Amino acid sequence: MLKIVQKLNKGLSGEITIPADKSVSHRAVMFSSIAKGSCIIKNFSSGADCHSTLNIFKQLGANIEFKEEKTLSIKSGGILKKSLSPLNAGNSGTTTRLISGILAGQNFDSVIIGDESLSKRPMKRIIEPLTQMGAKIESTEGHAPLRIFGQKLHGIEYNSPLASAQVKSCILLAGLYADGVTTVTEPYVSRNHTELLFEYLGANITVKDNSVIVKPSELTAKDITVVGDISSAAFFIAAGLIVPNSDFIIKGVGLNPTRSGIIDIVQRMSGNIEVLNKKTESGELIGDIRVQYSENLKGCVIQNDDIPRLIDELPVIAVLASQAEGETVVKNAEDLRNKESDRIKCLVSELTKIGINITETTDGFIVRGKNKINGGAELESYHDHRLAMSFYIAGLVAENEIGINGFEWTNISFPEFEQLMYQLI
Ligand code: S3P
Repeated sequence: MLKIVQKLNKGLSGEITIPADKSVSHRAVMFSSIAKGSCIIKNFSSGADCHSTLNIFKQLGANIEFKEEKTLSIKSGGILKKSLSPLNAGNSGTTTRLISGILAGQNFDSVIIGDESLSKRPMKRIIEPLTQMGAKIESTEGHAPLRIFGQKLHGIEYNSPLASAQVKSCILLAGLYADGVTTVTEPYVSRNHTELLFEYLGANITVKDNSVIVKPSELTAKDITVVGDISSAAFFIAAGLIVPNSDFIIKGVGLNPTRSGIIDIVQRMSGNIEVLNKKTESGELIGDIRVQYSENLKGCVIQNDDIPRLIDELPVIAVLASQAEGETVVKNAEDLRNKESDRIKCLVSELTKIGINITETTDGFIVRGKNKINGGAELESYHDHRLAMSFYIAGLVAENEIGINGFEWTNISFPEFEQLMYQLI
């Protein structure tokens, strides 16, 4: 579907509530399905990725029902059963990598399949550590489909070369079923939703600096309310900062410090952003964000431990940086090439088409601002939800209208995106 976006001739104002966090929604369904007992999950994501996870756990025998539009009830004896048909993870890397950790230690075999993009994404990063734990997994040269032959696992001490929450979570999940102790150490701390939910549901888990240690444990089901997704809020934060005269509130945003890098970067860029009403919900920090148009944004360097804290926000940060004075340099983000698309290459090729001064580097990109965004071009979303939404934000300040091909891919994480944008216009 081609979406046309035109320049806004007034500021964004009012209030929106941001829908559920994708990472937390996945984990809420997965962990409740392997936990003993029953629970209610409130504010579950309506994105297609989280629904892939939900359908897979139904197939694996969990009793999952919708009570209301975004409220689920889950009952499970904590024991999964073999699915006779393949488990379809769709477009979702999180689903594939996390459930591999669960399935590796079961007493049955499973097959995980996915769409074209998912079938190109690297799976060796989980196959290798799982194999060290005793798992038996067949893949097509490190890609899905994955055939997982359930085995008895043993704990390992894994030094992850990547700061990846998907890799970390996969190993920790396998660790629940393994004999002995499992330790994962990462170069920088990646999002810790698994650790927080494990703690909340009673797993035997310890966190020490960049290491997480888990012992075989049974989880106990407990009601979970999913916080709003800061990665979805990021599109609105960027829009508010660059659309003149904007001033609005984004309510219910997850503010977990391992995810809130975007807020620090906006402050580093001298953007006008304020966090209000902080509290804790099911182990996660949550609050409201006020964002105002910021005429004097400045470029900055984004690198090292910044990266895992804002990895999914980098496409929209590129758009934001085009409206800041000076250079914004993103380094150490090579894993962006392994997302739903090669986000470095695709971002640079498409933003260049509308007049943004952006250069590709091996591990990131450099944006030179302040650019007038010409627009007047049709951009390809490369089946990547976050690229599609980032381009939409650029369109709001472009001189001429832009077209976005494949805009329907926004449904992967954020079907409510455009409707919420209209609420602010
Ligand atoms: C996620 C972790 C990140 C992120 C993805 C969701 C998660 O991926 O990009 O959107 O829920 O664990 P990596 O672990 O590959 O960095």
